[in-house]
Amino acid sequence: MSSAIDSIKNSVISCMNCDLSRSRINAVPGEGDWESDVIFVGEAPGRNEDLQGAPFVGAAGKILSEALEYAGFTRRHVYITNVVKCRPPNNRRPSKQEVSSCSGYLQKEIGIIKPTVICILGNTAFGSLLDGSEITKNRGKLIRREDHLYFVTVHPAAVLYNPDLRQVLKDDLKSLYGIVEKIKKGTPVQISE
Ligand code: URA
Repeated sequence: MSSAIDSIKNSVISCMNCDLSRSRINAVPGEGDWESDVIFVGEAPGRNEDLQGAPFVGAAGKILSEALEYAGFTRRHVYITNVVKCRPPNNRRPSKQEVSSCSGYLQKEIGIIKPTVICILGNTAFGSLLDGSEITKNRGKLIRREDHLYFVTVHPAAVLYNPDLRQVLKDDLKSLYGIVEKIKKGTPVQISE
């Protein structure tokens, strides 16, 4: 276990940087393999995550796990985290201020893990990490920004409202798996700048 990741975990658990710390049951630090080639970044914990203190353990988590396995990833061998580490009341989208008071944790996670690719799950992570919007128009792309490569796809919870997105997410993660394999072998991949 990385002691640096452990130390972020402890800071997240005791964090009082914003008002979400008052309404949470548990803060939800990132979880998984800190040696993973990919970090998956969601929006914020929901009810089940708040109860259990772990990311993506509810309905959206089940969809994410299914898509990961389909694509060739093993859930416990990747690292999964969120832009915001505490549940916004009633699962509302986190505010800009909440995102900015939490963003240091994600930046530290990325700095320690140094993933080959950061996988953005949905609009909140897209907006926060790349200042992007309209995920459905940009999904499936590999984007280079500064020192990092980002892969953009839909949020697993979007599948709950639009069942057609289940296969989209699965196919995107399969394509991501192939991209990571190619990068590791030194084979060129198509990158949008
Ligand atoms: N949605 C997210 O964005 N993150 C979770 O951890 C669960 C649901």
